[in-house]
Amino acid sequence: MISTVEAPSGSHGGSGSPLLSIEGVTVQYPSKGWRKPAFTALKGISLDIQPGETMGLVGESGSGKTTLGRAVLGLAPVTAGAIRYDGKVISSMNRKERRSLSDEIQVVFQDPYTSLNPALTVLDILAEPLMTAGTGRAAAEQRVTDLLEQVHLPKDAATRLPREFSGGQRQRIAIARALCRDPRLIVCDEPVSALDLSNQSRVLDLFIEIQERTGVSYLFVTHDLSVVRYISHRVAVMYKGEIVESGTADKITSNPDASYTQRLLLAAPVPDPERQAVRRATRQQFNAQLRMAEATGQAN
Ligand SMILES: Nc1ncnc2c1ncn2[C@@H]1O[C@H](COP(=O)(O)OP(=O)(O)OP(=O)(O)O)[C@@H](O)[C@H]1O
Ligand SMILES: [Mg+2]
Repeated sequence: MISTVEAPSGSHGGSGSPLLSIEGVTVQYPSKGWRKPAFTALKGISLDIQPGETMGLVGESGSGKTTLGRAVLGLAPVTAGAIRYDGKVISSMNRKERRSLSDEIQVVFQDPYTSLNPALTVLDILAEPLMTAGTGRAAAEQRVTDLLEQVHLPKDAATRLPREFSGGQRQRIAIARALCRDPRLIVCDEPVSALDLSNQSRVLDLFIEIQERTGVSYLFVTHDLSVVRYISHRVAVMYKGEIVESGTADKITSNPDASYTQRLLLAAPVPDPERQAVRRATRQQFNAQLRMAEATGQAN
């Protein structure tokens, strides 16, 4: 959780055609056991993201945030609905067709250590996607120098291995790698959750700075409401595979309509013990009301 919670003002393209359009998407994971029913992780989700916009995705553990990000990346089984990118349906593409999109849609995960090859230097990690796409060695090296500068890492970072960096620095390497081929959309799955508070806000500022410079859009998954408020233009709140509410970051994080979002806000800790005690009591009341509503099938 970070302490500053100003929502970004941003100049993303509000009402034009969306870069990404998620239309009634259902994801079902096939069952592992014999005769067990498939598990429906997403139930008819609809959402769009404009060019240059950050759409924050919040919700408790297991609500389907990662699954939605994976569906956008073509890694989760979409069984109904469609995902359009730049007007084209991408949810029914085969692997080969998908590969042609890998320049445009990138990903940054929570734990960069598992997504960076530990045996390669930063230069090789960042140059590899460029050289695979046909860039010559010298041009790739120059691009790596530029990328390191963009993510505020020292020049000598190029010759070092991932383990020789702090967590915050490693996340900057992962961001640099996502930026290699000038993507237009980055799926960010809890990219600052493993960092301490000061690193969190520095890395969030880096995401914002990159967006202002390049116009990239983010689908930004987090369970932390202060993070989502800091980085997002709009926010969607997920609960059990559905979107219960969406709106501007300011509205959702200060004055939400859905009782589930209100409960989520109350669950976020505040530093003042007296306010925290009041919140705890209100949250307990809410939880009791929600249990009652769920029992009668009226929860939202
Ligand atoms: N490959 C899979 N096979 C079967 N079920 C899965 C698979 N991946 C996720 N699930 C289930 O789908 C639901 C949503 O999971 P998901 O990882 O999307 O949640 P999440 O909101 O990202 O949670 P967290 O905040 O803990 O990361 C969970 O019940 C999970 O167990
Ligand atoms: Mg997740």
